[in-house]
Amino acid sequence: MCGIVGITSNKEVTTRIVNSLKKLEYRGYDSAGIATLNDGFIKEVKCEGRVEVLEKNITSSNLQGEIAIGHVRWATHGRPSTINAHPHSSETVSVVHNGIIENSTILKKILEKKGYNFKSQTDTEVIAHLITDYLKKNNLKNTIIKVLKKLHGSFALGIIFKDYPDLIVGARRGSPLAVGYGPNENYLGSDSYALKSMTNKVSYLNDGEFCLIKDNQVEFFDTNGIKVNKKILNLSQDNQDNDKGDYKHFMAKEIDEQPTTIKNCVNEYIDKINKQINIYNFPWKINQINSIVLIGCGTAYHSCLVAKYWFEEYTSLDVSIDIASEFRYRKLKFKSDCLYVFVSQSGETADTYAALDICKKNKMKTCSIVNVIESSIARDSNLVLPIHCGPEIGVASTKAFLGQMLVLYILCLKLSFDQKIITKKIYQEKIKNLLSLSNLCKKTLLTDNKIQKASKEFIKAKGSMFLGRGYSFPIALEGALKLKELAYVHAEGYPAGEMKHGPLALIEEGMPVVVLAPRDNHYKKTISNMQEVIARGAKVLLVTNKSKDEIQSENIWEKIEVENLTEDLFPFLITVPLQKLAYYSALQNGYDIDKPRNLAKSVTVE
Ligand code: G6P
Repeated sequence: MCGIVGITSNKEVTTRIVNSLKKLEYRGYDSAGIATLNDGFIKEVKCEGRVEVLEKNITSSNLQGEIAIGHVRWATHGRPSTINAHPHSSETVSVVHNGIIENSTILKKILEKKGYNFKSQTDTEVIAHLITDYLKKNNLKNTIIKVLKKLHGSFALGIIFKDYPDLIVGARRGSPLAVGYGPNENYLGSDSYALKSMTNKVSYLNDGEFCLIKDNQVEFFDTNGIKVNKKILNLSQDNQDNDKGDYKHFMAKEIDEQPTTIKNCVNEYIDKINKQINIYNFPWKINQINSIVLIGCGTAYHSCLVAKYWFEEYTSLDVSIDIASEFRYRKLKFKSDCLYVFVSQSGETADTYAALDICKKNKMKTCSIVNVIESSIARDSNLVLPIHCGPEIGVASTKAFLGQMLVLYILCLKLSFDQKIITKKIYQEKIKNLLSLSNLCKKTLLTDNKIQKASKEFIKAKGSMFLGRGYSFPIALEGALKLKELAYVHAEGYPAGEMKHGPLALIEEGMPVVVLAPRDNHYKKTISNMQEVIARGAKVLLVTNKSKDEIQSENIWEKIEVENLTEDLFPFLITVPLQKLAYYSALQNGYDIDKPRNLAKSVTVE
C-alpha cells in the first residue's frame, strides 16, 4: 500500500529516496513518484508501475536535489496512472499522501471556483491547492494548522515548498508516520522500515500532530500548533536478512523459514528449564479478565478464528472474535473485565488500528500480537506480544500466520494455567509439545511433488472448495484465501458439516476439493463429508496426519500426510501444504507471487 519517504539534507538525496522506496515495494503499489527542488522550482518525476521505471526516469531527466519527497501509490481515488501518481504539486507546493480525504469532492469544487486547475482524479491534489491558497494569506505554521482542520478522513502527509527550500512538513491523522534523525540531515517515512537503511533513531507522530523537518532541526506540534516534545527511540536491529537468497520468491523462502520462526518464537516465550511460559510484563491479575475478544483482518483474522477454539477449550473466558473493519462500526458494549487482543503482522492495518483506538478511548485492556514491534498498533496497546518471525515481504502472509497462532496458543495456555483450568502436568506437557513443533513443521515441508501435481488441477478448475471441522475449519478458510490471493482461482472455505446446506450444489465432476481431516475429534464426521463430495464427482486432495489406521475410502485423488502430534497443534502443520498449493498454483500460471494483483501488504486505508 502507499508509502512515503522524505529527506532534507545538504547532499544529493534522490538516489536514497529511490532506494528507500524500493524498501517499501513489498507493501504492494501500482505507481511511484518523487518531487524535489531544482534551481528553486518544484520538479516532479512520476511513473505507472515499478520503482525501477521511476529510477530510469530520474536518471534520464537528470533530477537532483538536496530535499525530496517520494511515494509509492496504491490506487484508491483515480486509477493507477502517471498523472494520478504522487506527488501532486502546484507551482509552490508538492504533496505525497497516504490515506483518503473524504471531503475532497467538496474542497475541489471550492478550489475550482477560485481558479485552481486539477490535473488528476485523486483526492490528494486538493491538499496541494488548499495549502497554496492558504499560504497567500497565512504564515506557514498557520497554513498547516488550518488546512489540516479542513481535511476530513485519514492521512499521512509529506510536503515540500518552493519558498521554504530546506523544509519538509509531515502530518498525521489515522495513517502512521515517522521521523528519522541523521547527521546534517533528517527524514520522514510512512514507517520506520523505510528509514532503517539511513538511521536507527526515530520518533513517531501521534494522531493529529504535524512536524517541521529541516536538515539540522525537527519540531513537532499538536493539532493547535502547540509545541510537543518527542522521545527519540532506537530501532531494534533484526538480524534476519531481507534477501531472497537462492529462492525465486520471498513467499517460498518465508514458507521454508517457518520451522525457524516457530523455534525463535518458542524460545522467546518458553522457559525450557522450568517448563513454563514467560510473559513477564503481563499487566493484569487473572481475576480481572473474564472475557476475551480477538480482532484482526485477513490472515490475521483467521489466526483469531483458530484461537477461539483454544480459548474455549482451555480457559473459562467468554471468547468472541471480530473482523476489525466490522468491529469498529458495531454498537459495542465495552466491559472492563474483557481483554481485547489485536492481531496484525504489520501492526499498521488501518481497520485493526481503528478498532484498537476505540478500545483505548474506552479505557479497555488492550494487547497486541504483532510482527513489527515499532508499529502503531504495538505502540498504542497496553501489552505487546511480538511473534518474532522476522520481516515478512511476500504480500500473502505465511510465516506470520503460524507466528500469530503460536503466540495466541501460548497466551491461551498461560491464561488457562493462571485460571487453574489445566493442571501443572498438562501445562508442562503442552509446553513440551511446543518444543517439538519446529521439527515436525520441518518434516511437513517435504511434501512438494504431490502438491505441485495437484496444483495443475486447481488452476484448470473454475472453482474449488476447502473443507474442515473444528480447528481445521479456519485453516480451510486460510487455504482458500491463499489460493484466491495468489493464483486468482475462485476458492471457498467451508465448515465440512455445512456443505449439505447449500455449497454441495456446486460440486460437479472433477471439481478439486481440499479436505482437512487430521485424526482429531471430528475426523470420522469429516471423512463422511468427504465421501459425500467424492460421491458427487469431486477430486479430493485429503490433508491428514500419518497413522497406522487406513482411511476407508478408495476414491481419494491425492493424500498428504503431516506428522503426528496432539490434535490442538494440527493447525500449525496442515496449513503448510495449503500455502504450498497456492504457491505452486500461482507459479504455474506465472503470476507475480510476492506482489499479487490489486493487493497490498500493509493496508493503511479503510
Ligand atoms: C493484507 C495482507 C494480508 C494480511 C492482512 C492483514 O490484506 O495482504 O496478507 O493478512 O492485510 O494484515 P496485518 O498486517 O494486519 O496482519
